[in-house]
Amino acid sequence: MIVVRGSAELGGLEGLRRPGPLVLVPTMGALHEGHLNLVRQGAAHGPVVVSIFVNPTQFGPGEDFEAYPRDLESDLALLAGEPVAAVFAPTVADMYGAPGEVSVRAGRRAEGLCGAIRPGHFDGVLTVVAKLFGMVRPDIAVFGRKDAQQCLVIDQMVRDLRLAVTLVDAVTVREADGLAMSSRNRYLGPADRARALCLSGALAAGRAALEHGERDAASVERLMREALSGADVIDYAVARALPEMSPCATPLGGGILLAVAARVGPARLIDNVALRVDAQGVAETHLLAGWPATAG
Ligand code: PAF
Repeated sequence: MIVVRGSAELGGLEGLRRPGPLVLVPTMGALHEGHLNLVRQGAAHGPVVVSIFVNPTQFGPGEDFEAYPRDLESDLALLAGEPVAAVFAPTVADMYGAPGEVSVRAGRRAEGLCGAIRPGHFDGVLTVVAKLFGMVRPDIAVFGRKDAQQCLVIDQMVRDLRLAVTLVDAVTVREADGLAMSSRNRYLGPADRARALCLSGALAAGRAALEHGERDAASVERLMREALSGADVIDYAVARALPEMSPCATPLGGGILLAVAARVGPARLIDNVALRVDAQGVAETHLLAGWPATAG
């Protein structure tokens, strides 16, 4: 595994460019099984480069940028046992050194949900992802489906800016009890860890309602919100039409994202499930259209 510790060493990736695709898995480190799943998904398509960079521009004032867990050596140890060709760990100066005046502004898909609660967050995500795409020049990039709005916002950037990268959204990896894996789960003590299950519980409640024939988005959202009552602050509990994240028509149908975000103790957590609702019933689906159904 090659470790590229700054943009000056990026030439080290050149040997990985073969006739086949080069795959990028962008991360902020603090790696867990969910990230390793992204790596394994990516490795099915070509040599994998994992980037590790805690991106300052996607954190707002009062958010956890300083506290965000950073441990490059343990991340590297974890990746050493995985099919990873290279790790790219740039510095802040590599990514944001002068001149640093141009940034990417997210479009309409970033307006609600996390975009409303964290103003500027998706502009920061898109700016750093565009830079990573420019530096690593991947053919394929793999993102976790847990960050559904992020996947959809990046998808819009790739389409609008005509970037030559194929996006893959990889299935959310969960703990045995259903909690979606997240670097921020490290903030949870035992009592908050137990309460955090209300997020996956809320999605299960919304999905069960759909499976029982409920087609009114407001009713599904009410049930999800009720199931989140164990959280300290509910940021949102919504059903949105995929892929534009627009409000659902009634009766609800087609691609539907059920998405929740809540604060539990010191952690702000998010979770979601992408569903296809049609005459055949309710089934989990991919976020990004056009990828074969077996890729999750
Ligand atoms: O999902 C993440 O870890 C980050 O938002 C990303 C995509 C690596 C950009 O900093």
